[in-house]
Amino acid sequence: MQIPQDLIDTAKLKLKSVQSEAEFFQLRSQYLGKKSFVISSFAELKSLDPDSKVAAAKELNILKSKLNHLFEVALEGIQAKTDVSLLDTTLPADPYFVGAEHPIAEISQRVINYFSPLNYQVFSGNEIETDFFNFEALNFPENHPARQMHDTFYLNAGKKSEYLLRTHTSNSQIHAMLREPLPLYMLSPGRVYRCDSDTTHLPMFTQIEGLVVDEDVNFGDLKGIIINFLEYFFNEKMEVRFRPSYFPFTEPSAEVDIKFGDNGWLEVLGCGMVHPNVLKGCNIDTQKYRGFAFGMGIERLAMLYYGVDDIRDFYASNLDFLNQFSS
Ligand code: DAH
Repeated sequence: MQIPQDLIDTAKLKLKSVQSEAEFFQLRSQYLGKKSFVISSFAELKSLDPDSKVAAAKELNILKSKLNHLFEVALEGIQAKTDVSLLDTTLPADPYFVGAEHPIAEISQRVINYFSPLNYQVFSGNEIETDFFNFEALNFPENHPARQMHDTFYLNAGKKSEYLLRTHTSNSQIHAMLREPLPLYMLSPGRVYRCDSDTTHLPMFTQIEGLVVDEDVNFGDLKGIIINFLEYFFNEKMEVRFRPSYFPFTEPSAEVDIKFGDNGWLEVLGCGMVHPNVLKGCNIDTQKYRGFAFGMGIERLAMLYYGVDDIRDFYASNLDFLNQFSS
């Protein structure tokens, strides 16, 4: 059997001019396919006498493995080259989606951004709370309607009805007053829970509480800061109305309405001067200190700010909806 001596060299030469994978595979089948010299020669071995058969088989096997190696290495080179030619490194990076803050988190942050430079410290509060912090210390009379089962989620842990899911962030006022030195300027954002559900109410929603306790704060300070905040928040001069209202933990109390588009007056928050009973309960000298407080619903602010009319959209995990807010 005559093995061409230049077989490897010509294969090398031809491989050098290969431009694509298609050309490569064509060439490989010429050298290692069924009809190639090496493979078809194996079939001819049986016609040889035993000694020549062994010698020829050995030579063919060496040749085959050299060719295999040659083509393997060449293929890697060709694939690397074609990959690089597909990659235009001068193109700008693909804009890829990295996620975004939830609109409710963004609105909470927008509120915090107004109060932080005024030295309000941000406190996180308890979502699982005792009756004491959620109601009693906030001067809710024992038979106040907000304590009724239909409003509140009570937990069956420990003593019956001792624990509940807080119905508002006002519980943070009590924790802060019992724990922190005076004067106190605090904000407390977080989730609250009420047994309530329709297009403007959810059983879980978000509030931000604000509380100031200092030596000579008055209702004028409260009014000023609220009006200023609302104008910051909505980026425009606002018509704001303080409507007398009732909260057990403030006296006097007010609900704050804004004139918004064609909708007439819309309520955006509750506020008032901290009730002396609440201050006294936290061992604060009411001869020396006064306080004001306010609480607002973040979903309500977000609905107005973004023009969303169904509160449930915020929590439906619909990316088409949520992506509109990712900046
Ligand atoms: N906690 C009240 C509620 O959820 C809102 C509120 C009203 C908070 C008046 C306050 C306040 O701090 O002073 O309806």
